[in-house]
Amino acid sequence: MKHILVLMGGESAEREVSIKTGMEVSKSLKNLGFKVTEFDPYEKQLFEIQNISPDIVFNALHGRFGEDGFIQGLLELYKIPYTHSGVLASSLAMNKVYSKKIFESVGINCTIGDVYILDDFFHSEIMNYPYVIKPINEGSSVGVSIIFNKNDRDNFLKNIEWSFGNEILVEEYVPGKELTVAIYKDKAIGVTEIMYQSKVYDYNAKYKENFSKHFVPAKISEQKYNEAMSVGLKAHRSLGCRGITRADIRYDYESESGDLYLMELNTQPGLTPISLFPEIAEHAGITFDEIVDFLIEDAGCNK
Ligand SMILES: Nc1ncnc2c1ncn2[C@@H]1O[C@H](COP(=O)(O)OP(=O)(O)O)[C@@H](O)[C@H]1O
Ligand SMILES: [Mg+2]
Repeated sequence: MKHILVLMGGESAEREVSIKTGMEVSKSLKNLGFKVTEFDPYEKQLFEIQNISPDIVFNALHGRFGEDGFIQGLLELYKIPYTHSGVLASSLAMNKVYSKKIFESVGINCTIGDVYILDDFFHSEIMNYPYVIKPINEGSSVGVSIIFNKNDRDNFLKNIEWSFGNEILVEEYVPGKELTVAIYKDKAIGVTEIMYQSKVYDYNAKYKENFSKHFVPAKISEQKYNEAMSVGLKAHRSLGCRGITRADIRYDYESESGDLYLMELNTQPGLTPISLFPEIAEHAGITFDEIVDFLIEDAGCNK
């Protein structure tokens, strides 16, 4: 019987989500007949993983240290195969600035933005409204604000609690629909359209039941649906990802061009009971246990 260590929790802003993902995965691994040890790097020292010596690590961490290549690098050094993307792909995907350079180099249309020094952002109007502010490397909408007008900007500056370093990513706001594409076994398996009541598709809308509505499949034309699928797969391949990923896209359907804009690629998509990935998979006839089983089969070092 293979012994799987599930990494979950951690210290990132997405700790709670990671615990939910980890619990679901743990349950599924037990269903599949694996021996399971749950491991929270917030409660234990990472070097203990070596003493436990599992056959495979299932990485259920989200956010910094879990999704950005750090933990992947440690597992490479320990020579313990792990799930999802490797060191480089994880690092790149977590950084919204560098990943965009690669996405654009393979012809993917991305949200348009620039990085500003926080001080410059404070002291001058840097872009026409509306725009979006985000940290370069966080997830789950942590630190994301949409500034529609001067009032929003003033409020943001008044209440600012920016704990994400000296740089700030500012992007042109893309109106329209919110789409997300799931990639599994090197194929796009479906597109969800997300509707939410809040101004921003924020943490609450993402993780609290009834705060948002998901439409699987997305209610868009077949042509746009296929286009979104190919953007997702292209993004996944361009960074050299493995396992599963999820691409977040805006669809400016009311504009003349009706373009899609890639916002980011998530290398550790949430696997909680209300997460987007398992929902798309289910619609494609793929069960939660199948996702987990595939990730275990696909686990590796140096690949
Ligand atoms: N350029 C943009 N235009 C419109 N909405 C955006 C833009 N960038 C981000 N958003 C909104 O903020 C959410 C979170 O942004 P995203 O880039 O996906 O970061 P995170 O890693 O936090 O999920 C998106 O799902 C979307 O609703
Ligand atoms: Mg996102």
